[in-house]
Amino acid sequence: MAQWDNGDSTSYWFFRITAMVKVLFVCLGNICRSPTAEAVFRQKLEDANLGIEVCIDSAGTHAYHVGAPPDRRAQSAAARRGIDMSALRGRQATRHDFNKFDYILAMDQENLENLEAICPSNSQATLRLFLEFADSYDEMEVPDPYYGGPGGFDHVLDLIEDASIGLLEDIKNRLGTS
Ligand code: 4NP
Repeated sequence: MAQWDNGDSTSYWFFRITAMVKVLFVCLGNICRSPTAEAVFRQKLEDANLGIEVCIDSAGTHAYHVGAPPDRRAQSAAARRGIDMSALRGRQATRHDFNKFDYILAMDQENLENLEAICPSNSQATLRLFLEFADSYDEMEVPDPYYGGPGGFDHVLDLIEDASIGLLEDIKNRLGTS
């Protein structure tokens, strides 16, 4: 869940109206990979002074962890790189997201297929694997770290950091600011 979606309707609507590009990151549970992508990409946007122009959020294709904070291991790995994701909360992706977001980026093939199954036929959203934007890795999927060891969370961060650079360039091209 986006940090701006905090019940303060004034800041929420300010953000929704001013943001020119909207990006949704999606994994299975919305407690490991997609909130990590949301937090990392928010940092990249702020570093590029594009925090106002781009609205980002994350969601899971399943409802296992709706309302839950990110997994502690994901938070610890992100914190070691100076990224705070503690305010994020899980939510489930819905078909309405396809009318709200310009990019809907899945962490793996299974979740891409879950999203394709609920995508309205008239959707204009770009629905892709997030790692299509990565340059330094051959992998096409961000592996699910939930049942693995702590090293998995660092690898998730490496992949997400790389894809975030490519996504930022794509959005800059879309905004005409590159
Ligand atoms: P995520 O990881 O999709 O990256 O958030 C998972 C989190 C929870 C579960 C599976 C994957 N789970 O089975 O509860």
